Amino acid sequence: MNIALIGYGKMGHEIEKIAIQRGHTIVSIIDVDNINDFESDAFKSADVAIEFSTPASALNNYRRAFAAGVPVVAGTTGWLEHIDEVKKACEENGKTFFYASNYSLGVNIFFVLNKYLAKIMNNYPDYDVKMEEIHHIHKLDAPSGTAITLAEGVIENIDRKDNWHLETEEKKSDLAIHCIREGEVPGIHEIIYESEADIISIKHDAKSRKGFALGAVVAAEFVKGKKGFLGMNDMLKF
Ligand SMILES: NC(=O)c1ccc[n+]([C@@H]2O[C@H](COP(=O)([O-])OP(=O)(O)OC[C@H]3O[C@@H](n4cnc5c(N)ncnc54)[C@H](O)[C@@H]3O)[C@@H](O)[C@H]2O)c1
Repeated sequence: MNIALIGYGKMGHEIEKIAIQRGHTIVSIIDVDNINDFESDAFKSADVAIEFSTPASALNNYRRAFAAGVPVVAGTTGWLEHIDEVKKACEENGKTFFYASNYSLGVNIFFVLNKYLAKIMNNYPDYDVKMEEIHHIHKLDAPSGTAITLAEGVIENIDRKDNWHLETEEKKSDLAIHCIREGEVPGIHEIIYESEADIISIKHDAKSRKGFALGAVVAAEFVKGKKGFLGMNDMLKF
């Protein structure tokens, strides 16, 4: 496949390596210095663009890729307030867009486990629940996109929680998400249930960025020939 990369930072470099290993060709790489390459023939020749840039630039990059007729696999987090516009472009204008707050297989297994545990814990109100996420110091958004997906999995299944809240529980019905930024940590997420008697916790600890990059390339292979707004549930079918 011909793949374009939008955003050539830590993830862009990792994705380039894996895409080449899997036999793909990188036809265009767009970063801040060549932002007008969306209009280039090279970019337009891509079967799909994989976008890992910044929360502030993501939406405009999706718009420009759509205008060039190139489907998007999106990894940037922190732009979800614009999700309705992207869904509309898919539903009304036949665009193709794949989004995952986390592309690693392990995290997506963890998402399923999180919902399953929350369903059980719904029956045990003596346990309060909170979340902790740790990432490298360069991360721009907090909480992480993964933490938000995990929080939604808890809130959907635990009647006594109806909202997530950064750092603290303002109300008993809030799920507190404590965010720590330190060193070069690729990403740790832990959901903690605590009663007077004990603690039950589940934790995912990414060893590197490789799992995210591989998942994004596999998603790029998956979107070929498809239309609409797609995600990991369409691809993995747990
Ligand atoms: N969904 C996932 O699985 C997953 C995994 C890891 C990281 N992420 C997210 O991906 C994003 C990128 O992460 P990273 O670690 O590669 O960050 P990074 O800071 O290393 O790289 C971002 C790159 O985007 C470039 N950029 C800035 N503005 C741009 C623009 N307008 N157009 C194109 N490129 C632009 C920067 O110059 C930089 O090279 C972040 O939002 C991060 O949270 C998601």
